[in-house]
Amino acid sequence: MVRRVVCPGSFDPVTNGHLDIIGRTSRLYDEVVVAVLINIEKKSLFTVEERIDMLQAVTKEYGNVRVEKFHGLLVDFAKQQGIPTIVKGLRAVSDFDYELQMAQLNYRMSGVETLFMSTNPEYSFLSSSRLKEIARYGGDVSGLVPDLVLRLLVERLRG
Ligand code: PNS
Repeated sequence: MVRRVVCPGSFDPVTNGHLDIIGRTSRLYDEVVVAVLINIEKKSLFTVEERIDMLQAVTKEYGNVRVEKFHGLLVDFAKQQGIPTIVKGLRAVSDFDYELQMAQLNYRMSGVETLFMSTNPEYSFLSSSRLKEIARYGGDVSGLVPDLVLRLLVERLRG
C-alpha cells in the first residue's frame, strides 16, 4: 500500500516555512501531494501555474513530492486522489482555532483526517502575506524563501 498525504495551501509564494513542513512530511510518507488552491476571489501575486512551477522546482530534491492544483473543497480533491490524510503546519496557538474547526469540518464531511505538524520555530512568524508586504517595501526577505522564489519575488514586485 502506498501511503499518500496532501499538503494544501495557497503558496503565493512558497516559503521556507512551507518547505520545512513539506520536506519533513516527505520523510514520513511514500508520496506527498502538494495541492495549490485555485481561488479566483483572492487577488494573488503569482498565477497558479507560476506557483506550481516554483513548488516543483524547490521540492524536486525530495523525490516523492507531486504538485497539483484544485478548486472547490479540499476533501473532494483528497477523495478523488484516494488520499486519506491532510497535513497542516501549525505556527502558533493563533493558528489552532481556525485549523481545528477546518479539520473537524473536513472530517465530518468526508472522514478525511488532518494531522498537525509543528512548524520549525525558525519560521513560526512567517506567512506569505507578511513576506510579500516586507518585500514590496524593499525589506530583506532572504533566508525566508528559497533563492529561486526570492529572485521571482523581487522581479515581480519591483519589476
Ligand atoms: O495557504 P492557505 O491560504 O492558508 O491555505 C488554505 C487552504 C487552501 C488549505 C484552505 O483554504 C482550503 O482547504 N480551501 C479549500 C476550500 C475548503 O475545502 N473549505 C472547507 C473548509 S472546512
